[in-house]
Amino acid sequence: MERTLLVCGTFRMNLTTPSCAAGGGLQLMDALRSELLARGLGWTVARSVCLGHCTIGPNLKARGGPLLHGCRPETAAAIIDRLLVEWPVEEEPAEVAADACDWPPPGS
Ligand code: FES
Repeated sequence: MERTLLVCGTFRMNLTTPSCAAGGGLQLMDALRSELLARGLGWTVARSVCLGHCTIGPNLKARGGPLLHGCRPETAAAIIDRLLVEWPVEEEPAEVAADACDWPPPGS
């Protein structure tokens, strides 16, 4: 399963209201991509819409994993270290051999 980090890159309409993009969310995306590349991890980093925790951002949601708050670009390495522990890899479904089923049924 592809691993995706959704990073909030939202600016709020009111510039006095905290937002992830104003707090470094876009720089966080770049820092995560650089760190993942350096480690040879093929995770995807994508910009997300507001995750609903604007005052404690920048926020990051690991798809199928934890939602992290206060993620700063300078902590990208620590974020990935944490996710490697807290974001378990789902088992891929076992491949079914092509000859495992009789379809079409013999004689049909
Ligand atoms: S602006 Fe990022 S959670 Fe709302």
